[in-house]
Amino acid sequence: MINSQKLEALGVMAGGIAHEFNNALAIISGSAEMLLGDSPDTSQKQAKRILHTTDRTSKLVKQILTFSRMDASSIKPINLAVTIQESVEMVRSVIPANIEIRQDIAGECLNIMGDTTQIHQVVVNLCMNACHAMEEKGGILQISLKNDDESLVLRVSDTGGGITQENKKRIFDPFFTTKEVDKGTGLGLSVVYRIIENHQGNIFVDSEFGIGSTFTIILPKTTEVILVEQACVDNKEGAGHILIVEDEEDLAQLYKEYLETVGYKTTVRNNGEAALSTFKQHVNRFDLVLTDNSMPKMTGEELAKELLTIRPDLPIILATGYSNVATEKKAQHGGILQYLVKPVKLGLLTQAIASCLAKDINMNSRK
Ligand SMILES: Nc1ncnc2c1ncn2[C@@H]1O[C@H](COP(=O)(O)OP(=O)(O)OP(=O)(O)O)[C@@H](O)[C@H]1O
Ligand SMILES: [Mg+2]
Repeated sequence: MINSQKLEALGVMAGGIAHEFNNALAIISGSAEMLLGDSPDTSQKQAKRILHTTDRTSKLVKQILTFSRMDASSIKPINLAVTIQESVEMVRSVIPANIEIRQDIAGECLNIMGDTTQIHQVVVNLCMNACHAMEEKGGILQISLKNDDESLVLRVSDTGGGITQENKKRIFDPFFTTKEVDKGTGLGLSVVYRIIENHQGNIFVDSEFGIGSTFTIILPKTTEVILVEQACVDNKEGAGHILIVEDEEDLAQLYKEYLETVGYKTTVRNNGEAALSTFKQHVNRFDLVLTDNSMPKMTGEELAKELLTIRPDLPIILATGYSNVATEKKAQHGGILQYLVKPVKLGLLTQAIASCLAKDINMNSRK
């Protein structure tokens, strides 16, 4: 049974989410309205603002999903030193010049069982908090990684204003923030906490008000080896005919226009049944199917199943509102080659299409 404290926490969380989304939607729709009547010069600015806001909102959704454990996490052996280094480089490009970064990262091959994207999220969140704390006066951001017996110890320290005793008890609560509206959502540390829990690790904070803060994370080592990932497929000019299945008409048109500009032929259907009927009439016309998952009457997964019984080698990309490990496993098992989470970046979509088509060619050449 849900107790009243939990209900209250859920209420606070829902309120926070609604607030963030309404702000983002206001910016997006306002900018779009202005775009409609603008000169090309100002429309560039509006388009940039729309992209910036959708990017921010999609990060927010990611944080919420990670927090509620609905996000697909792919835990495998990763080199923690390399992952931290990559995150620090991301941070370096956005921090002001009055903050000095000092690193002391043990060089040996230090592996953990982890999810690279989530570890990036942890390091970036901690570093951004540290930078915010030093924003006014500048200071030193120190990142260290040490080898300690069975575990690896990551420390992120700053020389900022520190955290009061009172606030220390609440910093890991979702939506707890001391920042101004639009500067912080208060989700960063709650997500960090969840991720570390998910990695069977521990997190501690030491902070002296007025002197600075240190966040310490302890993660268990692994002796499992890292598998070499397949090289990324280039974003070259596309060739092939794609059946787009999407009930949101504007989104279907966006996919169509974009894929045609990068060289693909497209056919759009707005529901699973229409797509299936078109496919049955022209079984060999399409090289790939890009389908939404949650559609009325027939879901993308159901459509995929039908299509694969007709043509078992058909590459299918399933784009969905949110992912979880179970669905992803099921999707792969059912023959769906790629699984993308909305909002899908157009660049990523072309990469996924190119990689599916390349696999299809490899498979066919082996037959
Ligand atoms: N290094 C730090 N120095 C001082 N205060 C910190 C530090 N890290 C976190 N805090 C405090 O903890 C609060 C919660 O941090 P958290 O990262 O969860 O949210 P946020 O940074 O406010 O917003 P965002 O969702 O953008 O991360 C901050 O608002 C700040 O008061
Ligand atoms: Mg933060």
